[in-house]
Amino acid sequence: MKLPNLTLLQAYLKTATSAATSGGKILKKYWKNVKQIEDKSTAGDLVTEADKESEKIILQMITEAYPDHAILAEESSEKHLSSSSDFLWVIDPLDGTVNYAHQNPMVAISIALLYQNKVVVGVVFNPFYQELFQAIKGMGATLNGEKITVSQTRALDKSLLATGFAYDRRTTTDTNYPEFCHLTNLTHGVRRFGAASLDLAFVAAGRFDGYWERGLKPWDMAAGALLVQEAGGKISAYNETPFDLQSGKILATNGMLHHALSQELLNLSM
Ligand code: IPD
Ligand code: CA
Ligand code: CA
Repeated sequence: MKLPNLTLLQAYLKTATSAATSGGKILKKYWKNVKQIEDKSTAGDLVTEADKESEKIILQMITEAYPDHAILAEESSEKHLSSSSDFLWVIDPLDGTVNYAHQNPMVAISIALLYQNKVVVGVVFNPFYQELFQAIKGMGATLNGEKITVSQTRALDKSLLATGFAYDRRTTTDTNYPEFCHLTNLTHGVRRFGAASLDLAFVAAGRFDGYWERGLKPWDMAAGALLVQEAGGKISAYNETPFDLQSGKILATNGMLHHALSQELLNLSM
Protein backbone atom coordinates (compact mmCIF):
# COMPACT_ATOMS: atom_id res chain seq x y z
CA MET A 1 0.00 0.00 0.00
CA LYS A 2 1.38 3.39 -1.00
CA LEU A 3 0.43 5.89 1.71
CA PRO A 4 -0.96 9.34 0.89
CA ASN A 5 1.86 11.87 1.34
CA LEU A 6 2.67 13.30 4.76
CA THR A 7 1.15 16.71 4.07
CA LEU A 8 -2.16 15.04 3.25
CA LEU A 9 -1.97 12.77 6.30
CA GLN A 10 -1.29 15.80 8.49
CA ALA A 11 -4.33 17.54 7.02
CA TYR A 12 -6.48 14.47 7.79
CA LEU A 13 -5.13 14.41 11.35
CA LYS A 14 -6.00 18.10 11.72
CA THR A 15 -9.58 17.48 10.59
CA ALA A 16 -9.89 14.46 12.90
CA THR A 17 -8.57 16.50 15.81
CA SER A 18 -10.89 19.48 15.19
CA ALA A 19 -13.84 17.13 14.88
CA ALA A 20 -12.90 15.30 18.11
CA THR A 21 -12.49 18.63 19.92
CA SER A 22 -15.93 19.76 18.73
CA GLY A 23 -17.42 16.44 19.85
CA GLY A 24 -15.73 17.03 23.22
CA LYS A 25 -17.57 20.35 23.60
CA ILE A 26 -20.87 18.53 23.14
CA LEU A 27 -19.94 15.96 25.78
CA LYS A 28 -19.17 18.83 28.17
CA LYS A 29 -22.41 20.62 27.28
CA TYR A 30 -24.59 17.67 28.39
CA TRP A 31 -22.33 16.61 31.28
CA LYS A 32 -24.40 15.97 34.43
CA ASN A 33 -27.47 17.06 32.50
CA VAL A 34 -28.29 14.06 30.32
CA LYS A 35 -32.05 13.86 29.84
CA GLN A 36 -32.45 11.09 27.28
CA ILE A 37 -30.88 7.74 28.11
CA GLU A 38 -32.15 4.98 25.82
CA ASP A 39 -31.30 1.29 25.53
CA LYS A 40 -29.94 0.15 22.15
CA SER A 41 -29.11 -3.51 21.42
CA THR A 42 -29.62 -4.75 24.96
CA ALA A 43 -29.92 -3.56 28.57
CA GLY A 44 -26.79 -1.58 29.40
CA ASP A 45 -26.04 -0.63 25.77
CA LEU A 46 -27.05 3.00 26.07
CA VAL A 47 -27.32 6.02 23.83
CA THR A 48 -27.84 9.63 24.96
CA GLU A 49 -28.41 12.96 23.25
CA ALA A 50 -24.68 13.62 23.76
CA ASP A 51 -23.75 10.57 21.59
CA LYS A 52 -26.10 11.76 18.85
CA GLU A 53 -25.14 15.42 18.89
CA SER A 54 -21.43 14.66 19.10
CA GLU A 55 -21.75 12.39 16.07
CA LYS A 56 -23.72 15.04 14.17
CA ILE A 57 -21.02 17.70 14.55
CA ILE A 58 -18.21 15.25 13.77
CA LEU A 59 -19.94 14.07 10.60
CA GLN A 60 -20.65 17.64 9.54
CA MET A 61 -16.98 18.61 9.85
CA ILE A 62 -15.64 15.52 8.10
CA THR A 63 -18.12 15.53 5.22
CA GLU A 64 -17.53 19.24 4.68
CA ALA A 65 -13.76 18.70 4.47
CA TYR A 66 -13.85 15.41 2.52
CA PRO A 67 -17.24 14.97 0.79
CA ASP A 68 -15.97 11.99 -1.27
CA HIS A 69 -14.77 9.91 1.68
CA ALA A 70 -16.87 7.06 3.10
CA ILE A 71 -17.93 7.11 6.75
CA LEU A 72 -18.78 4.43 9.31
CA ALA A 73 -20.13 6.07 12.44
CA GLU A 74 -21.66 4.25 15.41
CA GLU A 75 -24.97 6.06 15.74
CA SER A 76 -25.76 6.28 12.03
CA SER A 77 -24.20 2.97 11.04
CA GLU A 78 -24.10 2.09 7.37
CA LYS A 79 -25.90 5.22 6.17
CA HIS A 80 -22.80 7.06 5.03
CA LEU A 81 -20.98 4.03 3.65
CA SER A 82 -19.98 4.43 0.04
CA SER A 83 -17.77 1.69 -1.33
CA SER A 84 -16.25 3.79 -4.11
CA SER A 85 -13.77 5.64 -1.88
CA ASP A 86 -10.33 4.41 -0.77
CA PHE A 87 -10.89 6.43 2.41
CA LEU A 88 -13.15 5.40 5.30
CA TRP A 89 -13.61 7.42 8.49
CA VAL A 90 -14.51 5.22 11.48
CA ILE A 91 -16.09 7.19 14.31
CA ASP A 92 -17.21 6.61 17.88
CA PRO A 93 -18.70 9.95 18.99
CA LEU A 94 -18.77 8.88 22.66
CA ASP A 95 -16.87 5.81 23.77
CA GLY A 96 -17.86 4.94 27.32
CA THR A 97 -21.52 5.96 27.19
CA VAL A 98 -22.34 3.96 30.33
CA ASN A 99 -19.63 5.87 32.21
CA TYR A 100 -20.96 9.14 30.82
CA ALA A 101 -24.54 8.38 31.85
CA HIS A 102 -23.25 7.75 35.39
CA GLN A 103 -21.20 10.97 35.42
CA ASN A 104 -17.94 9.08 35.27
CA PRO A 105 -15.44 10.96 33.08
CA MET A 106 -13.62 7.90 31.63
CA VAL A 107 -14.93 8.61 28.14
CA ALA A 108 -13.49 9.57 24.78
CA ILE A 109 -14.21 10.47 21.21
CA SER A 110 -12.48 8.10 18.81
CA ILE A 111 -11.87 8.97 15.16
CA ALA A 112 -9.83 6.94 12.68
CA LEU A 113 -9.18 7.26 8.99
CA LEU A 114 -8.61 4.10 6.96
CA TYR A 115 -6.93 4.16 3.56
CA GLN A 116 -7.41 0.98 1.53
CA ASN A 117 -8.57 -0.78 4.70
CA LYS A 118 -5.55 0.19 6.83
CA VAL A 119 -5.75 2.75 9.63
CA VAL A 120 -3.54 5.71 8.70
CA VAL A 121 -4.72 8.36 11.18
CA GLY A 122 -6.10 7.95 14.72
CA VAL A 123 -7.32 10.37 17.37
CA VAL A 124 -8.65 9.52 20.83
CA PHE A 125 -9.71 12.51 22.92
CA ASN A 126 -10.90 12.64 26.53
CA PRO A 127 -12.36 16.15 26.95
CA PHE A 128 -12.67 15.86 30.73
CA TYR A 129 -9.01 15.04 31.37
CA GLN A 130 -8.01 17.14 28.33
CA GLU A 131 -5.96 14.24 26.96
CA LEU A 132 -5.51 14.15 23.20
CA PHE A 133 -3.89 11.01 21.76
CA GLN A 134 -2.88 11.24 18.09
CA ALA A 135 -1.10 9.05 15.57
CA ILE A 136 -0.22 9.02 11.90
CA LYS A 137 0.91 5.72 10.37
CA GLY A 138 4.71 5.58 10.38
CA MET A 139 5.09 8.82 12.36
CA GLY A 140 4.73 7.68 15.99
CA ALA A 141 2.07 8.49 18.57
CA THR A 142 1.66 11.50 20.87
CA LEU A 143 -0.25 12.58 23.96
CA ASN A 144 -0.94 16.33 24.01
CA GLY A 145 1.87 16.73 21.48
CA GLU A 146 4.49 14.72 23.41
CA LYS A 147 5.77 11.44 21.97
CA ILE A 148 4.48 8.35 23.82
CA THR A 149 5.85 4.82 23.94
CA VAL A 150 4.59 1.53 25.34
CA SER A 151 5.85 0.18 28.67
CA GLN A 152 8.98 -1.93 29.17
CA THR A 153 7.33 -4.59 31.37
CA ARG A 154 8.68 -7.99 30.40
CA ALA A 155 6.81 -10.42 32.66
CA LEU A 156 3.11 -10.99 33.20
CA ASP A 157 3.57 -11.18 36.96
CA LYS A 158 4.83 -7.58 36.89
CA SER A 159 2.13 -6.29 34.55
CA LEU A 160 -1.03 -4.20 34.79
CA LEU A 161 -3.65 -5.18 32.21
CA ALA A 162 -7.06 -4.00 31.06
CA THR A 163 -10.10 -5.70 29.57
CA GLY A 164 -13.87 -5.26 29.20
CA PHE A 165 -17.13 -7.18 29.07
CA ALA A 166 -19.32 -6.68 26.01
CA TYR A 167 -23.03 -5.89 26.01
CA ASP A 168 -23.90 -9.49 25.00
CA ARG A 169 -22.29 -10.83 28.20
CA ARG A 170 -25.63 -12.02 29.63
CA THR A 171 -26.47 -14.11 26.58
CA THR A 172 -23.12 -15.44 25.33
CA THR A 173 -21.02 -18.28 26.69
CA ASP A 174 -17.90 -16.31 25.71
CA THR A 175 -18.24 -13.95 28.69
CA ASN A 176 -14.53 -13.18 29.26
CA TYR A 177 -15.10 -13.82 32.98
CA PRO A 178 -12.73 -16.85 33.22
CA GLU A 179 -10.01 -14.89 31.39
CA PHE A 180 -10.47 -11.94 33.74
CA CYS A 181 -10.18 -14.12 36.89
CA HIS A 182 -7.22 -16.08 35.56
CA LEU A 183 -5.22 -13.02 34.54
CA THR A 184 -6.12 -11.13 37.70
CA ASN A 185 -4.33 -13.89 39.61
CA LEU A 186 -1.29 -13.87 37.31
CA THR A 187 -0.65 -10.11 37.24
CA HIS A 188 -0.60 -6.95 39.35
CA GLY A 189 -4.22 -6.58 38.28
CA VAL A 190 -6.72 -6.22 35.47
CA ARG A 191 -8.64 -2.95 35.14
CA ARG A 192 -12.06 -2.50 33.54
CA PHE A 193 -12.53 1.12 32.47
CA GLY A 194 -15.50 0.74 30.12
CA ALA A 195 -14.02 2.72 27.21
CA ALA A 196 -12.11 0.54 24.77
CA SER A 197 -10.48 3.43 22.91
CA LEU A 198 -8.97 4.69 26.17
CA ASP A 199 -7.81 1.19 27.14
CA LEU A 200 -5.86 1.09 23.89
CA ALA A 201 -4.60 4.66 24.27
CA PHE A 202 -3.37 3.74 27.77
CA VAL A 203 -1.44 0.76 26.38
CA ALA A 204 0.13 3.18 23.89
CA ALA A 205 1.07 5.55 26.72
CA GLY A 206 2.61 2.75 28.84
CA ARG A 207 -0.09 3.03 31.53
CA PHE A 208 -1.28 -0.51 30.82
CA ASP A 209 1.08 -3.26 29.68
CA GLY A 210 -1.62 -5.11 27.77
CA TYR A 211 -5.30 -5.22 26.90
CA TRP A 212 -7.65 -7.78 25.40
CA GLU A 213 -11.36 -7.71 24.70
CA ARG A 214 -14.05 -9.41 22.60
CA GLY A 215 -17.42 -8.19 21.30
CA LEU A 216 -16.04 -4.86 20.09
CA LYS A 217 -16.99 -2.83 17.03
CA PRO A 218 -14.58 -1.27 14.50
CA TRP A 219 -15.16 2.23 15.96
CA ASP A 220 -14.10 1.03 19.44
CA MET A 221 -10.73 -0.22 18.14
CA ALA A 222 -9.61 1.56 14.95
CA ALA A 223 -7.95 4.70 16.32
CA GLY A 224 -6.57 3.01 19.45
CA ALA A 225 -5.06 0.15 17.44
CA LEU A 226 -2.96 2.62 15.45
CA LEU A 227 -1.91 4.42 18.66
CA VAL A 228 -0.58 1.16 20.12
CA GLN A 229 1.36 0.26 16.98
CA GLU A 230 2.81 3.72 16.57
CA ALA A 231 3.87 3.77 20.23
CA GLY A 232 5.93 0.61 19.60
CA GLY A 233 3.40 -1.97 20.76
CA LYS A 234 1.75 -4.89 19.05
CA ILE A 235 -1.84 -5.71 18.09
CA SER A 236 -3.24 -9.00 16.81
CA ALA A 237 -6.00 -11.54 17.20
CA TYR A 238 -5.85 -13.52 20.48
CA ASN A 239 -3.84 -16.23 18.67
CA GLU A 240 -1.31 -13.70 17.31
CA THR A 241 -2.62 -13.86 13.74
CA PRO A 242 -3.07 -10.44 12.08
CA PHE A 243 -5.58 -8.10 13.67
CA ASP A 244 -8.94 -7.85 11.87
CA LEU A 245 -11.03 -4.75 12.57
CA GLN A 246 -14.23 -6.68 11.81
CA SER A 247 -13.46 -9.59 14.15
CA GLY A 248 -14.63 -7.85 17.34
CA LYS A 249 -11.51 -9.09 19.16
CA ILE A 250 -8.19 -7.50 19.92
CA LEU A 251 -5.04 -8.32 21.82
CA ALA A 252 -2.83 -5.25 22.32
CA THR A 253 0.40 -5.21 24.32
CA ASN A 254 3.75 -3.54 24.69
CA GLY A 255 5.05 -6.31 22.39
CA MET A 256 7.20 -7.98 25.05
CA LEU A 257 4.17 -9.55 26.76
CA HIS A 258 2.32 -10.41 23.58
CA HIS A 259 3.18 -14.09 23.27
CA ALA A 260 2.73 -14.80 26.98
CA LEU A 261 -0.67 -13.10 27.14
CA SER A 262 -1.79 -14.80 23.93
CA GLN A 263 -0.82 -18.19 25.39
CA GLU A 264 -2.82 -17.57 28.57
CA LEU A 265 -5.91 -16.55 26.57
CA LEU A 266 -5.61 -19.53 24.22
CA ASN A 267 -5.07 -22.06 27.01
CA LEU A 268 -8.29 -20.93 28.65
CA SER A 269 -10.38 -21.21 25.51
CA MET A 270 -9.23 -24.80 24.86
C1 IPD B 1 -18.25 0.36 24.68
C2 IPD B 1 -16.96 0.59 25.45
C3 IPD B 1 -16.70 -0.55 26.42
C4 IPD B 1 -16.67 -1.89 25.72
C5 IPD B 1 -17.96 -2.08 24.92
C6 IPD B 1 -18.12 -0.93 23.94
P1 IPD B 1 -19.71 2.50 23.92
O1 IPD B 1 -18.48 1.41 23.76
O2 IPD B 1 -15.86 0.75 24.59
O3 IPD B 1 -15.45 -0.40 27.04
O4 IPD B 1 -16.54 -2.90 26.68
O5 IPD B 1 -17.88 -3.31 24.24
O6 IPD B 1 -19.26 -1.13 23.15
O7 IPD B 1 -20.97 1.74 23.75
O8 IPD B 1 -19.57 3.13 25.24
O9 IPD B 1 -19.41 3.41 22.78
CA1 CA C 1 -17.55 2.44 21.82
CA1 CA D 1 -20.20 5.00 21.48
